[in-house]
Formats: sequence, C-alpha cells, structure tokens
Amino acid sequence: QEGYKLAVTAHGIRLESATTTGFFYGLTSLKKMLPACVAAGVKDEKVTTYELPLVQITDKPRFPYRGFMLDVARHFFSVQEVKKMLDVMAIYKLNKFHFHLTEDQGWRLEIKSHPELTAKSSMRSGTVIGHNATVDDSIPHGGFYTQQEARDIVEYARQRHITVIPEIDMPGHTLAALAAYPELGCTGGPYEVGHRWGVYKDVLCLGKESTYKFVQDVIDEVVDIFPAKYFHIGGDESPTVMWEKCPNCLQKAKDENTDIKHLQQYFTNRIEKYLNSKGKSIIGWDEILEGKINQSATIMSWRGVEPGLKAAKQGHDVIMTPSSHVYFDHYQAKETKHEPDAIGGCSPVEKVYSYEPLPETLDAEAKNRIKGVQANLWTEYIPFTTQAEYMVLPRMARLASIISTIKVDWPDT
Ligand code: ACM
Ligand code: ZN
Repeated sequence: QEGYKLAVTAHGIRLESATTTGFFYGLTSLKKMLPACVAAGVKDEKVTTYELPLVQITDKPRFPYRGFMLDVARHFFSVQEVKKMLDVMAIYKLNKFHFHLTEDQGWRLEIKSHPELTAKSSMRSGTVIGHNATVDDSIPHGGFYTQQEARDIVEYARQRHITVIPEIDMPGHTLAALAAYPELGCTGGPYEVGHRWGVYKDVLCLGKESTYKFVQDVIDEVVDIFPAKYFHIGGDESPTVMWEKCPNCLQKAKDENTDIKHLQQYFTNRIEKYLNSKGKSIIGWDEILEGKINQSATIMSWRGVEPGLKAAKQGHDVIMTPSSHVYFDHYQAKETKHEPDAIGGCSPVEKVYSYEPLPETLDAEAKNRIKGVQANLWTEYIPFTTQAEYMVLPRMARLASIISTIKVDWPDT
C-alpha cells in the first residue's frame, strides 16, 4: 500500500503507486535527486539547469510502523521546531511521530478540565546542571501546546503522511502533574516539578478512585485531539515504594486480589479497557509486560531487544526501539571530548545501521508481530533544536535504510 515505482527514462518520468502515500514517497525520492535548492523551492542563481539520472526505483517500506519519538517534556520544543522534525521524518519516509508529552519535569499539553497542568505543571523553576550534580541553574524552563496547537501539529503531520501518537506517561514520570494536583500522589505532597533527571519515587496513587477519574478526564481530551488508533500510556520506570506504604494502595491491591508489585498491571488493564471503549489500542513501554497484561497491548521494547522478542513470542504486537541501537540521545562518537554533553551510551551511525529488527532465531509468526522500529530522542541534555538536529540527522538516515526495501537500478540508456 505504501510502495511505489519510479522510472526516469529518456522520455520522461513515470511514478506509479496504489495510494497517495505511495505517491508521496515516490515524489520524496524524486525530490532527493534534485539539487537541494530546487527540492526546497529556494532560488539559487548558480543553479539554472539540472539533470536527473536515468534510474528505476522500486520501493516499499519493510514495516508498517516507522517511528521517531521526541521528548518535549525534559526540554520544550516550539510548534515550529516540532514541525521541522516532522519535515525531516517525511524525508526519511517515517510515518509515526511519538509525541512524549508528559514527564516529571514538565507537562506539555493543555487539558481544559485540569487547568493547573498548564498553569503549574508546565513550568519548572530550575534545571540541574550536568549529570545530576547538586547545582541548579535556577532558570525557569517550561512551555506547553494549546489544544489548538496540538491539532495544528496533527494536521501538519497528516499532510506528510505521518500519524501523531500521543504519550501520557503513567503511573510513573508524573511528578509534574502531582505538583499541581498533590491529591493524586500517595502522601498528598507537597510536590515540586522535577529539576533533576532519572526516576522519581513519587508516582500516581493507584489506591484512590480519584486518580482513575483524573486519568480518564485527561484521556477524554487527548483522544479528541489525536485521531491515531494508538495511544501510548508510558508505563516505564514506575517504582512501587510509595504504594507499599500507602493505606489506599494496600487496600486496592487487597480488593483486587493482587499485590503491590502487580498494582501497575491492574492499572494498565483498567486504563486499556477505558481506551478500548474510546476505540483506541494501547502501546506501553516494555515494563508493562511485568504483569499479566492483555495480549491486545502493543509493547515498545526499549531495554534492549529481549523484551520485544519475548512479547512477540507471547503474541503481542511489538515496536522495537532498543536503547542499545536507536537511542539518538546517546553519543554518536567513541571520542566524546568534542561532542555535546550526552546522557551516555554510544550508538554511532554504523551501530544504527547494523541493527536487524527481525533476528533469524525468531519464527515466522513472531516476526509478523514486530510491526516496526522507532528511534527515540530523550532531551535531558538536549536543550536546543540545533543540538536535537545534530543528534538525529546522521542517524535517522541509517534508521531509514534498515526499514526500507528500496531497490535502485541504473539502466544503460
Ligand atoms: C525509557 O527510555 N525510559 C522508555
Ligand atoms: Zn497510594
């Protein structure tokens, strides 16, 4: 459905596709053969004539899900900056934009039923300097998208054949929300929007019914903005220490015939049911596999490839995003002296290119469950869009290579 055939002959250009998406990708390839100024529609006096190579291209994507995630919560990126990323994705024929909208350090989407999420949770009063040193810059950082702006991003993406998948990360990574609505936490706070990176022990209290009401209120507005079939519920890095001491959480676990270690599983299944009632399917980070969760949940494998392979064997749909290969916030050179400060790791272009999402050891049925690959840009150490582009651009080209089946022939005439 997304494939095309492109032939440049002595007589002209012929582009064939079954769908407008295929046609869009064919045009994208054609554009890449043009001088950059022509493709971009920018005037350059020196470029007056140009030639296309004689070529035949057959191309279709290897996977239906070809994703890129931008964390706009650790650092905020403007609508304009997000749109530029979408342009870049389109060049590489990526089709799923995973919009990581909420974090401990900031909530980035207007929710009309809970105005404090933008008034308070979207702003932190400072950011730790370096790798969680004790020094804080005391510079307020924040920002959010109005619902109208989010809709504008969705439409801009749609015109580039990209679906925007929103992520509301829960029950962990919710400190910013707790800062505005402390009753959502186990102790009732007070809480402060996070200044440092990593995992916070304060998460949503799963023992109080009011938490579920809050989550459902948020979902009601988010699903109305983002028409995607998928809804990402996060689910990563959620400690249980506060639940273990909370009478409400202990009681809930008892009532639901489970234990504290599996309270997240109860939460995930309940939220999934609610989202299903809205016509949505959930994606969660691979931690959600740690409980008995419904097979209908799609697993995003980030702690290496193993969780994804395990999930595929269990019959879950899987999106591979192993931090070992496609975390674009990792360094891209072994020698880091002249690189911008990064979170760690090392995934140079060769490593991205070496990644094979469908290992030989996997049987055909499990292979079929792997719906695609996604690269992630976490932005703890990436405050500027120029730095984001520096981290993304060389490696996204390699990501595009491993998820494409492009075949190029150069006929003699
Ligand atoms: C993640 O990198 N915490 C999903
Ligand atoms: Zn609790």
